Amino acid sequence: MDLYRIGVIGTGNVGRALAFGLGAAGHEVVVGGRDPGRADLASWAEGAGVEVAHVEKAVEGAELAILATAWDGAENALRMAEDGLAGKVLIDATNPLKFTTRLELGVGHVDSGGEQVQRWVPEARVVKLFNTVGFELMDRPDLVDGPGTLFMAGDDDEAKAVARSLAADLGWGVHDCGELRAARLTEPLAMVWIEHAMRSGSRSHAFRLIGTPA
Ligand SMILES: NC(=O)c1ccc[n+]([C@@H]2O[C@H](COP(=O)([O-])OP(=O)(O)OC[C@H]3O[C@@H](n4cnc5c(N)ncnc54)[C@H](OP(=O)(O)O)[C@@H]3O)[C@@H](O)[C@H]2O)c1
Repeated sequence: MDLYRIGVIGTGNVGRALAFGLGAAGHEVVVGGRDPGRADLASWAEGAGVEVAHVEKAVEGAELAILATAWDGAENALRMAEDGLAGKVLIDATNPLKFTTRLELGVGHVDSGGEQVQRWVPEARVVKLFNTVGFELMDRPDLVDGPGTLFMAGDDDEAKAVARSLAADLGWGVHDCGELRAARLTEPLAMVWIEHAMRSGSRSHAFRLIGTPA
Protein backbone atom coordinates (compact mmCIF):
# COMPACT_ATOMS: atom_id res chain seq x y z
CA MET A 1 0.00 0.00 0.00
CA ASP A 2 1.40 3.41 -0.98
CA LEU A 3 1.06 6.02 1.71
CA TYR A 4 0.87 9.74 0.90
CA ARG A 5 0.95 13.14 2.54
CA ILE A 6 -2.51 14.45 1.68
CA GLY A 7 -3.86 17.98 1.94
CA VAL A 8 -7.65 18.09 2.18
CA ILE A 9 -9.13 21.43 1.11
CA GLY A 10 -12.35 21.84 3.06
CA THR A 11 -13.21 21.24 6.68
CA GLY A 12 -16.85 20.25 6.25
CA ASN A 13 -18.59 16.87 6.14
CA VAL A 14 -16.68 15.48 3.17
CA GLY A 15 -13.31 16.93 4.15
CA ARG A 16 -13.63 15.47 7.62
CA ALA A 17 -14.83 12.03 6.47
CA LEU A 18 -12.04 11.64 3.93
CA ALA A 19 -9.41 13.02 6.30
CA PHE A 20 -10.48 10.68 9.05
CA GLY A 21 -10.70 7.61 6.82
CA LEU A 22 -7.45 8.21 4.99
CA GLY A 23 -5.67 9.06 8.24
CA ALA A 24 -6.94 5.82 9.78
CA ALA A 25 -5.67 3.97 6.70
CA GLY A 26 -2.15 5.25 7.44
CA HIS A 27 -1.86 8.34 5.26
CA GLU A 28 -0.53 11.58 6.70
CA VAL A 29 -3.43 14.00 6.35
CA VAL A 30 -3.66 17.74 6.94
CA VAL A 31 -7.07 19.37 6.63
CA GLY A 32 -7.00 22.88 5.21
CA GLY A 33 -9.53 25.51 6.21
CA ARG A 34 -9.95 29.25 5.94
CA ASP A 35 -9.89 29.57 9.72
CA PRO A 36 -7.90 26.64 11.09
CA GLY A 37 -8.06 28.02 14.64
CA ARG A 38 -11.87 27.67 14.82
CA ALA A 39 -12.88 26.01 18.09
CA ASP A 40 -15.18 23.34 16.61
CA LEU A 41 -12.50 22.40 14.11
CA ALA A 42 -9.80 22.13 16.74
CA SER A 43 -11.91 19.85 18.93
CA TRP A 44 -12.87 17.65 15.98
CA ALA A 45 -9.22 17.46 14.85
CA GLU A 46 -8.07 16.45 18.30
CA GLY A 47 -10.64 13.67 18.53
CA ALA A 48 -9.92 12.47 14.99
CA GLY A 49 -6.14 12.67 15.37
CA VAL A 50 -5.92 14.86 12.26
CA GLU A 51 -3.86 18.00 11.78
CA VAL A 52 -5.56 21.24 10.71
CA ALA A 53 -3.87 24.13 8.92
CA HIS A 54 -4.69 27.04 6.65
CA VAL A 55 -5.61 25.82 3.14
CA GLU A 56 -2.39 27.14 1.67
CA LYS A 57 -0.20 25.35 4.22
CA ALA A 58 -2.15 22.10 4.05
CA VAL A 59 -1.55 21.86 0.31
CA GLU A 60 1.98 23.22 0.26
CA GLY A 61 3.40 20.32 2.28
CA ALA A 62 1.28 17.63 0.62
CA GLU A 63 2.03 15.21 -2.21
CA LEU A 64 -1.57 15.30 -3.36
CA ALA A 65 -4.73 17.22 -2.51
CA ILE A 66 -8.45 16.64 -2.29
CA LEU A 67 -10.95 19.42 -3.02
CA ALA A 68 -13.95 19.14 -0.69
CA THR A 69 -15.49 22.61 -0.49
CA ALA A 70 -18.92 23.92 -1.27
CA TRP A 71 -19.08 24.57 -5.01
CA ASP A 72 -19.45 28.31 -4.58
CA GLY A 73 -16.29 28.32 -2.45
CA ALA A 74 -14.22 26.09 -4.73
CA GLU A 75 -12.60 28.80 -6.84
CA ASN A 76 -11.68 30.86 -3.80
CA ALA A 77 -10.21 27.83 -2.01
CA LEU A 78 -8.22 26.88 -5.11
CA ARG A 79 -6.87 30.42 -5.41
CA MET A 80 -5.51 30.06 -1.87
CA ALA A 81 -3.99 26.67 -2.67
CA GLU A 82 -2.89 27.05 -6.27
CA ASP A 83 0.82 27.74 -5.72
CA GLY A 84 1.11 24.43 -3.91
CA LEU A 85 -0.89 22.46 -6.46
CA ALA A 86 1.37 22.64 -9.51
CA GLY A 87 2.09 19.14 -10.83
CA LYS A 88 0.12 17.48 -8.03
CA VAL A 89 -2.84 15.15 -8.18
CA LEU A 90 -5.99 17.05 -7.18
CA ILE A 91 -8.97 14.83 -6.45
CA ASP A 92 -12.17 16.81 -6.95
CA ALA A 93 -14.92 15.50 -4.67
CA THR A 94 -17.26 18.46 -5.22
CA ASN A 95 -20.56 18.66 -7.04
CA PRO A 96 -21.48 21.91 -8.80
CA LEU A 97 -24.78 22.24 -6.97
CA LYS A 98 -26.89 25.33 -7.11
CA PHE A 99 -29.87 26.01 -4.90
CA THR A 100 -32.79 27.71 -6.60
CA THR A 101 -36.37 26.61 -6.10
CA ARG A 102 -34.96 23.11 -6.06
CA LEU A 103 -31.59 21.45 -5.81
CA GLU A 104 -30.02 20.96 -9.20
CA LEU A 105 -26.75 21.05 -11.10
CA GLY A 106 -25.61 24.48 -12.18
CA VAL A 107 -23.26 23.09 -14.79
CA GLY A 108 -23.76 20.15 -17.12
CA HIS A 109 -24.03 18.43 -20.49
CA VAL A 110 -21.37 20.45 -22.32
CA ASP A 111 -19.17 21.17 -19.32
CA SER A 112 -18.69 19.93 -15.78
CA GLY A 113 -17.47 21.07 -12.42
CA GLY A 114 -14.46 18.79 -12.81
CA GLU A 115 -13.43 20.52 -16.03
CA GLN A 116 -14.00 23.92 -14.42
CA VAL A 117 -11.75 22.92 -11.53
CA GLN A 118 -9.06 21.94 -14.06
CA ARG A 119 -9.40 25.35 -15.75
CA TRP A 120 -9.02 27.10 -12.39
CA VAL A 121 -5.82 25.18 -11.62
CA PRO A 122 -4.38 24.15 -15.00
CA GLU A 123 -1.12 22.95 -13.45
CA ALA A 124 -2.85 20.37 -11.25
CA ARG A 125 -3.70 16.82 -12.36
CA VAL A 126 -7.42 16.74 -11.66
CA VAL A 127 -9.30 13.51 -11.02
CA LYS A 128 -13.03 13.54 -10.30
CA LEU A 129 -13.84 11.03 -7.55
CA PHE A 130 -15.82 10.61 -4.30
CA ASN A 131 -18.70 12.82 -5.52
CA THR A 132 -21.26 10.03 -6.05
CA VAL A 133 -21.83 8.91 -2.48
CA GLY A 134 -22.80 10.60 0.79
CA PHE A 135 -20.09 11.55 3.24
CA GLU A 136 -21.39 9.14 5.88
CA LEU A 137 -20.30 6.15 3.79
CA MET A 138 -17.12 7.60 2.28
CA ASP A 139 -14.75 6.36 4.94
CA ARG A 140 -16.63 3.17 5.85
CA PRO A 141 -18.54 1.69 2.95
CA ASP A 142 -19.81 -1.25 5.00
CA LEU A 143 -22.69 -1.97 2.67
CA VAL A 144 -24.86 -5.03 3.11
CA ASP A 145 -23.92 -6.60 -0.21
CA GLY A 146 -20.21 -5.82 -0.18
CA PRO A 147 -18.21 -2.91 -1.56
CA GLY A 148 -19.83 -0.25 -3.69
CA THR A 149 -18.45 1.48 -6.76
CA LEU A 150 -17.19 5.03 -7.07
CA PHE A 151 -17.00 6.62 -10.50
CA MET A 152 -13.80 8.33 -11.60
CA ALA A 153 -12.86 10.66 -14.46
CA GLY A 154 -9.54 12.26 -15.34
CA ASP A 155 -7.07 12.89 -18.13
CA ASP A 156 -3.94 11.64 -16.34
CA ASP A 157 -3.68 7.86 -15.94
CA GLU A 158 -1.00 8.04 -13.26
CA ALA A 159 -3.11 10.48 -11.24
CA LYS A 160 -6.12 8.18 -11.63
CA ALA A 161 -4.08 5.23 -10.33
CA VAL A 162 -3.24 7.23 -7.20
CA ALA A 163 -6.87 8.28 -6.74
CA ARG A 164 -8.04 4.69 -7.23
CA SER A 165 -5.60 3.48 -4.56
CA LEU A 166 -6.98 5.97 -2.03
CA ALA A 167 -10.54 4.84 -2.70
CA ALA A 168 -9.41 1.21 -2.35
CA ASP A 169 -7.77 2.04 0.99
CA LEU A 170 -11.21 3.16 2.17
CA GLY A 171 -12.84 -0.02 0.86
CA TRP A 172 -14.32 1.18 -2.45
CA GLY A 173 -14.22 -0.30 -5.91
CA VAL A 174 -13.63 2.28 -8.63
CA HIS A 175 -14.96 2.41 -12.17
CA ASP A 176 -12.84 4.51 -14.51
CA CYS A 177 -15.27 6.43 -16.73
CA GLY A 178 -12.48 7.83 -18.90
CA GLU A 179 -11.31 11.37 -19.53
CA LEU A 180 -12.15 14.28 -17.24
CA ARG A 181 -14.99 15.24 -19.56
CA ALA A 182 -16.76 12.13 -18.21
CA ALA A 183 -17.40 14.24 -15.09
CA ARG A 184 -20.31 15.49 -17.24
CA LEU A 185 -21.77 12.04 -16.57
CA THR A 186 -20.68 11.39 -13.00
CA GLU A 187 -21.92 14.73 -11.63
CA PRO A 188 -25.49 14.04 -12.81
CA LEU A 189 -25.07 10.55 -11.33
CA ALA A 190 -24.47 12.25 -7.99
CA MET A 191 -27.86 13.91 -8.46
CA VAL A 192 -29.42 10.44 -8.71
CA TRP A 193 -27.87 9.67 -5.32
CA ILE A 194 -29.05 13.02 -3.88
CA GLU A 195 -32.60 12.74 -5.26
CA HIS A 196 -32.93 9.27 -3.74
CA ALA A 197 -31.68 10.60 -0.40
CA MET A 198 -34.21 13.44 -0.48
CA ARG A 199 -37.12 11.23 -1.50
CA SER A 200 -36.38 8.35 0.86
CA GLY A 201 -34.93 10.27 3.79
CA SER A 202 -32.13 7.74 3.87
CA ARG A 203 -28.43 8.27 3.15
CA SER A 204 -27.24 4.68 3.38
CA HIS A 205 -27.29 3.86 -0.33
CA ALA A 206 -24.45 3.66 -2.84
CA PHE A 207 -23.94 2.60 -6.44
CA ARG A 208 -22.40 -0.66 -7.54
CA LEU A 209 -21.47 -1.44 -11.11
CA ILE A 210 -22.31 -5.07 -11.78
CA GLY A 211 -21.27 -7.33 -14.61
CA THR A 212 -17.66 -6.11 -14.73
CA PRO A 213 -15.03 -5.92 -12.02
CA ALA A 214 -15.31 -2.65 -10.08
N1 LIG B 1 -22.26 16.05 1.83
C1 LIG B 1 -22.12 14.97 1.06
O1 LIG B 1 -22.59 13.87 1.42
C2 LIG B 1 -21.36 15.07 -0.24
C3 LIG B 1 -21.09 13.90 -0.96
C4 LIG B 1 -20.34 13.98 -2.14
C5 LIG B 1 -19.89 15.22 -2.58
N2 LIG B 1 -20.20 16.34 -1.86
C6 LIG B 1 -19.68 17.62 -2.34
O2 LIG B 1 -18.53 17.87 -1.55
C7 LIG B 1 -18.42 19.28 -1.29
C8 LIG B 1 -18.37 19.51 0.22
O3 LIG B 1 -19.58 19.06 0.79
P1 LIG B 1 -19.76 19.10 2.38
O4 LIG B 1 -21.00 18.36 2.69
O5 LIG B 1 -18.51 18.71 3.04
O6 LIG B 1 -20.03 20.65 2.61
P2 LIG B 1 -19.90 21.47 3.97
O7 LIG B 1 -19.95 20.56 5.15
O8 LIG B 1 -20.89 22.56 3.87
O9 LIG B 1 -18.42 22.08 3.89
C9 LIG B 1 -18.16 23.03 2.92
C10 LIG B 1 -16.71 23.46 3.02
O10 LIG B 1 -16.50 24.46 2.00
C11 LIG B 1 -15.75 25.51 2.57
N3 LIG B 1 -16.05 26.76 1.91
C12 LIG B 1 -17.27 27.33 1.69
N4 LIG B 1 -17.14 28.51 1.07
C13 LIG B 1 -15.81 28.71 0.92
C14 LIG B 1 -15.04 29.76 0.34
N5 LIG B 1 -15.63 30.86 -0.18
N6 LIG B 1 -13.70 29.65 0.34
C15 LIG B 1 -13.11 28.56 0.88
N7 LIG B 1 -13.77 27.52 1.44
C16 LIG B 1 -15.12 27.61 1.45
C17 LIG B 1 -16.19 25.56 4.03
O11 LIG B 1 -15.18 26.21 4.73
P3 LIG B 1 -15.40 26.85 6.18
O12 LIG B 1 -15.43 25.70 7.11
O13 LIG B 1 -14.20 27.73 6.30
O14 LIG B 1 -16.71 27.61 6.11
C18 LIG B 1 -16.32 24.08 4.35
O15 LIG B 1 -15.06 23.57 4.70
C19 LIG B 1 -19.60 19.94 -1.99
O16 LIG B 1 -19.17 20.41 -3.24
C20 LIG B 1 -20.60 18.79 -2.12
O17 LIG B 1 -21.46 18.98 -3.24
C21 LIG B 1 -20.91 16.30 -0.71
